[in-house]
Amino acid sequence: GGKGTQCARIVEKYGYTHLSAGDLLRDERKRPGSQYGELIENYIKEGEIVPVEITISLLKRAMDQTMAANSQKNKFLIDGFPRNEDNLQGWNKTMDGKADVSFVLFFDCDNEICIGRCLERGKSSGRSDDNRESLEKRIHTYLQSTKPIIDLYERMGKVRKVDASKSVDEVFENVVQIFDKEG
Ligand code: C5P
Ligand code: MG
Repeated sequence: GGKGTQCARIVEKYGYTHLSAGDLLRDERKRPGSQYGELIENYIKEGEIVPVEITISLLKRAMDQTMAANSQKNKFLIDGFPRNEDNLQGWNKTMDGKADVSFVLFFDCDNEICIGRCLERGKSSGRSDDNRESLEKRIHTYLQSTKPIIDLYERMGKVRKVDASKSVDEVFENVVQIFDKEG
């Protein structure tokens, strides 16, 4: 809970291009004529991770388009990816030799706080997964599939952890410390 908000601030201060895997999937879902719309909706509602072929092609296209429009814009803040082993393999296959991963910014937050924030957001977000049932499933997916990927990056010394249970401003202060040091 809160990574979208923090990413917007990082972009503002450090000039990264923000690419949210979730946002890209939601855009693709609502694109008229998308062959993946229904599949994406089912995965999102169930809190499951969409097959990487779909997600990586959306990410890669967005990165390529950004750099084609302005070759200086080659620093990306990729939000919500990789979320599982399949995501990681897809990334390695597609991006090997093309992209360097500087670090993984991990917004560490108590599950109940996350659920509370998303339920609050759900009052106006219109998101089909901001309800308690989907949120419980998302937490399950996180523990089962995402946490092991974070642990893997941790062992490579690539994780920068922020306590995301604090206020937006306090969390951002922490984020700034990290980016000032290595952004
Ligand atoms: O990151 P965000 O909360 O926007 O993700 C919402 C949902 O989008 C996830 O619960 C998942 O269903 C889907 N998603 C995915 N693969 C990703 C990122 C998000 O399938 N890499
Ligand atoms: Mg988001």
